Amino acid sequence: MPATFVIFGASGDLTSRKLIPALYKLFCKKRLRDGLRVVGFSRSPYSHQQWRSELAESTARFAGEDFDPDVWQQFESELFYHAGNIGEPADFERLRDFLAGIEKGVASPRVYYMATAPNFYEAAVDQLGRNGFADETDAPRRVVIEKPFGFDLASAKQLNHAIHRTFQEHQVYRIDHYLGKETVQNLLVLRFANTIFEPVWNRNYIDHVQITVAEEVDVGKRAGYYDKAGVMRDMFQNHLLQLLMISAMEPPVRYEADAIRNEKVKVLHAVRRLTAEDVAVDTLRGRYDGYTKSKDIAADSRTATFAAVKLWIDNWRWQGVPFYLRSGKAMSCRTTQIVIQFREPPQRLFATERNNLCDANRLIIQVQPAEGIQLHFQTKVPDAGMKLRTTDLNFNYQSEFGKSMPEAYERLLLDALEGDASLFARADEVEAAWRVCDPILKAWQESDQPPLLTYEPSVWGPEESAEWMRSQGREWFDTCPVLA
Ligand code: BG6
Repeated sequence: MPATFVIFGASGDLTSRKLIPALYKLFCKKRLRDGLRVVGFSRSPYSHQQWRSELAESTARFAGEDFDPDVWQQFESELFYHAGNIGEPADFERLRDFLAGIEKGVASPRVYYMATAPNFYEAAVDQLGRNGFADETDAPRRVVIEKPFGFDLASAKQLNHAIHRTFQEHQVYRIDHYLGKETVQNLLVLRFANTIFEPVWNRNYIDHVQITVAEEVDVGKRAGYYDKAGVMRDMFQNHLLQLLMISAMEPPVRYEADAIRNEKVKVLHAVRRLTAEDVAVDTLRGRYDGYTKSKDIAADSRTATFAAVKLWIDNWRWQGVPFYLRSGKAMSCRTTQIVIQFREPPQRLFATERNNLCDANRLIIQVQPAEGIQLHFQTKVPDAGMKLRTTDLNFNYQSEFGKSMPEAYERLLLDALEGDASLFARADEVEAAWRVCDPILKAWQESDQPPLLTYEPSVWGPEESAEWMRSQGREWFDTCPVLA
């Protein structure tokens, strides 16, 4: 029975840039087992054909070489557009009839995708409820909610509450596209399908962990949104904390949505709450020079485009191991990496070139741009006495498997269609993530400590960030992608 995928906010950027190209690629790969109809809902007065033509153009642009006009023709025959307004109850009644029409009265699994501005989520879900769209008597019904999920803990709770008036938790898929990235999933495999990493994956062997999501781009055309969100809401509450959870979680009892999410959420519960005094010393914030010149930014804006945060996880595995999280716009390069910095050997038998911590082993999980893993270890330089040098072992996904990596949305949309919520955030997980971020946001708002630092675009954030690490006897791993 073909499923129906309904997109609210169908004329927006997310639909044309991510959702349709991902669905089209799944169609090309024949992954949509039972077929799929896609219905776009938004206010723009398109006909089916106008919407299809616009999407053909944008998909050709985003899918690049993978775009095949003949395959697109088959795909687009199942694309439909229904104009309507989320604030207009009668438009949902019409949508209900329209869906029944294209489904030919046969109950079909449905996914409702919220690709609208976040302030419409509640109203849209409410209308879905009133029109019986969540009723699973005859077929599964799921709703996918895009980020940002709330603006703080209070609003996230309210949104969860509003969604739960219509959908049960098993029907709700809160998306974080970082979980759809192959390397993030591979981190689960690296940790839990190998025996050699687990024995050293703890406070006995690991000095600290660095999680960096650096972006080369600045806020660009999204300044209006970004100025209200800032780096903490835009990147930390979701993507960075997801990477933290996957890096630090205990093995789940089985590979299944709730077992995985139970372990992930425990990590967040164990993160030590930061007091305002902690925030002053354990976080840094900055913004790149020139930020306030962008259009749509408040003249008195204090929004941070860079942050670094030191977190402690109070449990047996991680007691005493700091996790350094940092992210910024307009940084040196685009790279997302998790660096596991191991301890130094207990005794120094050999003189090394650099007698400092960086000579200890290091495992780098490079999430993007190229995806892979690099292990740093010491070797003897040949024919040079007992001189040592750090060298590496590399695993590069692309060269190993020789095919292009799927877009995160492909995996996630397929999972939502098939009812696998493993890579989606649960209600308690999102709230726990806000519990980590709220005290930082509050302290930043109420105090000028830490100060809002300035950095030149195209560097690794404010200079003070390097000093901050050095003062703790550590160094940032400021290296642009280690794997090409
Ligand atoms: C989004 C943020 O969630 O993630 C953007 O809103 C950011 O500001 C983007 O640029 C980064 O995603 P990726 O996949 O390019 O690392």
